[in-house]
Amino acid sequence: MTKPTTRLTQTVKGAGCAAKLAPGDLDRALCGLDLPVDENLIVGLERADDAGVYRISDDLALVQTIDFFPPMVDDPYCFGQIAAANALSDIYAMGGTPKTAMNVVAFPAKSMDISILRAVIDGGLQTMREAGVVLVGGHTVEDAELKYGLSVTGFIHPGRILTKKKLRPGDRLLLTKPLGTGIICTAIKGGMAGPEVTDKVVRAMATLNRDAALVMRDYPVRACTDITGFGFLGHLAEMVVDSGRGVRIRATDVPVYPEALEWAAMGLVPAGAYNNRNFRGPFVDFARSVPQNLQDLLFDPQTSGGLLIAVDSGAARDLVDALAARGVAGAAIVGEVVAEPREKIIVE
Ligand code: CO
Ligand code: CO
Ligand code: CO
Repeated sequence: MTKPTTRLTQTVKGAGCAAKLAPGDLDRALCGLDLPVDENLIVGLERADDAGVYRISDDLALVQTIDFFPPMVDDPYCFGQIAAANALSDIYAMGGTPKTAMNVVAFPAKSMDISILRAVIDGGLQTMREAGVVLVGGHTVEDAELKYGLSVTGFIHPGRILTKKKLRPGDRLLLTKPLGTGIICTAIKGGMAGPEVTDKVVRAMATLNRDAALVMRDYPVRACTDITGFGFLGHLAEMVVDSGRGVRIRATDVPVYPEALEWAAMGLVPAGAYNNRNFRGPFVDFARSVPQNLQDLLFDPQTSGGLLIAVDSGAARDLVDALAARGVAGAAIVGEVVAEPREKIIVE
């Protein structure tokens, strides 16, 4: 098999990472529709969370999610790994264990060598093996642009579901991966990122949130989500709104890629970051001391980002240490939940 030379990121029309519908658009599409009512549907669409949860029995529920997108890196195998890790992440963010998956594929068969698709699926399979997930099938369509991802089903105990909405004043907030992958993917697409930073960020995006999820099971975790397309502040805003609480974030404690800060200062910021800011900006108060490039990073859309965990204050330090001991070295306490002001994110 010849090594594919196609630069996958050049085949994508939009800039940066996973081109997503602008935030709010889906809400408008769903508004007023007759959504299903079922007593066993514990988490459904009416208050979108990381994944849906459907009760099978008193001690077993299914947790289901789907995610797919065009390539944000040029190596097809790495793209497959990243897309799979990203899709599996929503199961971990709910506190669940992923079990089975199905490939979701769009492929430009007329313009791209089939060996590229093979490498993408191979990468996805490697990540699924690592996660202990069985591929049970999939669906492929022909399309102008390559897209890949997974529909994932996992198991969860109905009493141990981690939604976004149980923040309690005093809880500490932890983030398990650095921010900036959207900006760095924009730099990769623009041919500005060297091999070192590309490798570093590809490895981070391909890293499962499994270990972080396993560790947090032993701690008094109140709520959890994963940081993806809406960025750190976008996903945090969902937690704040759903809980009716506020949060204070110490900007300098938030783990970030220094390269992303540099590129953001040069204006290399994906459109998604501006969309996120337009949509969620009203919930955020920045102190004057927070520079513009760091603000941009806090709205940067992430691919396969880390978990954002709300944990009892007394256990937060121990959880960070336990994460580090398990190899989740980037985890940091980034702020805390406050009772007032409600539905506000104060970044200082
Ligand atoms: Co999610
Ligand atoms: Co998702
Ligand atoms: Co969750």
